[in-house]
Order: sequence, then C-alpha cells, then structure tokens
Amino acid sequence: MSSFFSKAKYASTIIIHLIILAHQSSALAEPVNLTQGFVSLPFNRSYYHIQKPYDLPEDQRYSFIDGIHKCWVYSTDKPHSLTSRTEPRTEIAIQGYNYSSSVWQFEGYGYVPAGTSGVCIMQVFGASPHATTLMLRVYNGSLFYYRSQVLVDEIYDKWFRLNVIHDVDGSKVKVYIDGYLILEADGRGGTSHAFKCGVYAQNDSSFYMESRWTDIKVLRKSD
Ligand SMILES: *[C@@H]1O[C@H](CO)[C@@H](O)[C@H](O)[C@H]1NC(C)=O
Ligand SMILES: *[C@@H]1O[C@H](CO)[C@@H](O)[C@H](O)[C@H]1NC(C)=O
Ligand SMILES: *[C@@H]1O[C@H](CO)[C@@H](O)[C@H](O)[C@H]1NC(C)=O
Ligand SMILES: *[C@@H]1O[C@H](CO)[C@@H](O)[C@H](O)[C@H]1NC(C)=O
Ligand SMILES: *[C@@H]1O[C@H](CO)[C@@H](O)[C@H](O)[C@H]1NC(C)=O
Repeated sequence: MSSFFSKAKYASTIIIHLIILAHQSSALAEPVNLTQGFVSLPFNRSYYHIQKPYDLPEDQRYSFIDGIHKCWVYSTDKPHSLTSRTEPRTEIAIQGYNYSSSVWQFEGYGYVPAGTSGVCIMQVFGASPHATTLMLRVYNGSLFYYRSQVLVDEIYDKWFRLNVIHDVDGSKVKVYIDGYLILEADGRGGTSHAFKCGVYAQNDSSFYMESRWTDIKVLRKSD
C-alpha cells in the first residue's frame, strides 16, 4: 500500500517535472511567425485618418517622415472634436478595416520616449458596454494592460514589435512583444472593432506624450 503511494507520488513528480521542462523549452524556443496564415491587407492613407486636437492643424501633432509615424500631444490640448469630452489624443485611427467577425491582427513597430506616461498607445476600439476591447498603456516606463497589469517592465526608448491578435468569434485577444506572448485576455463584447495607435491621454498623464510607429500592418486570418 505505502509502496503504491510512494510510486504514484514519484510518477506524478516526474510528470510535473516533464510539464515544467516542456514549458521551459517552449518559452526558450524561437517565436513562431505570427503573421503566417494571415493575409496582409492594403494599408495607406485611405485606410486611416489622424485624430488630433480639433483646434490644431495635423502637422502640429503628427508627422510621417521616412516611414515613421510620430504622434504627440500635450495634456492641456483639446479633445479630437468640439463635442467630445474625452482626454486629448493624437491617434492613427484605422477606419478602413472595421471588423465584426473572424480573426484580425495588428502588427507594428512602436517606440515610446522616456517621460511619456499616463497614456494609451494602442487600442482595439469597440466593445460593449465598454468602449474598448484592449488598451495598451504606458505608466512610469512600463507597458500595462489598462491600468491593471504590467506587461513589460521597461518600455522606454527602444523599438519593439507589437502583434495584437483579436479572435472575435472566440472572444480572445492576444498581445505579443517581439514575438513573445505577454497577454491573453477575454474579449469585451461589441459588434464592431477597429485598431488605433498613437497617444491618448489617460489619468495621471505627463505634460508631453509621444509614440512612434512604423511598418504598420493590418492582417486578416485566411480561410
Ligand atoms: C512570416 O510569414 C509571412 C507570411 O507568410 C511572410 O511574409 C514573412 O516573410 C514571414 N516572416 C518571417 C520573419 O519569416
Ligand atoms: C490605397 O490603396 C488602395 C488599394 O490598394 C488604392 O486603391 C488607393 O488608391 C490607395 N490610396 C492612396 C491614397 O494611395
Ligand atoms: C506612477 O508613478 C506615480 C508617481 O510615483 C504614482 O502616483 C502612480 O500611481 C504610478 N502609476 C502607476 C500606474 O503605477
Ligand atoms: C465602424 O463603422 C461604423 C459605421 O461607420 C461606425 O458607426 C462604428 O463606430 C465603427 N466602429 C469602430 C469600432 O470604429
Ligand atoms: C480616472 O479618472 C476618472 C475621471 O477623470 C475617474 O472616474 C477614474 O476613477 C480614474 N481612474 C483611476 C484608475 O484613477
């Protein structure tokens, strides 16, 4: 009897060790190609517009030079429309791919300069009853899921590759930085969604906020 239990205990210990090893080796393995199985859709100025303080010309808060989109805003700026009561923002709003089903992916290389804080840098717009399915925010040098969970400790002053995969039918959103999965969260309802990136002030924002983006892609899972 006791020998049966000690053998069973030994076997389960081995199984637990194997599970840990499997996890470790998959964590160390080369990241998979996240865009494989997806179709990259046309992306140019016809597919996005810039939301910026309504009283300013676009070039006061946004530039597109050598393929790099630079969005900046000040905490004292006006909202993006005369009637909006939201915080100031300069965002690349991708209105050309407003989706309601299937699996969609955003890929882009982002950069947040030191000092920028209290700001959303990327969102999956559209949810219900909430406004958003996902917000990636920067507070005090770290990348957060909303304000609730640190995803990357130190995000300032370096380019990172961001992949966000939104499975609408499965109601899941996955976030990858430099190919590594850092968040898997539930969807938050809603019937239409769209990707946005840039700077959108949240609580406790710094006076100046900036993010840069390049090689933005919108992809849809191929059938
Ligand atoms: C990933 O897959 C896509 C689509 O098949 C391809 O265009 C791209 O070159 C691949 N990237 C890498 C790093 O292999
Ligand atoms: C953007 O791409 C689409 C489809 O490829 C094309 O029809 C359109 O003329 C392009 N628009 C601009 C502003 O380049
Ligand atoms: C960021 O730092 C400020 C000042 O130390 C602090 O009040 C605030 O709670 C921090 N924000 C987060 C999200 O941790
Ligand atoms: C999608 O497009 C519809 C119609 O233009 C609009 O009412 C809705 O706000 C858009 N949804 C998102 C998430 O942008
Ligand atoms: C952020 O500010 C809004 C109003 O300005 C407030 O309702 C909300 O509780 C604040 N959230 C946090 C996390 O401080």
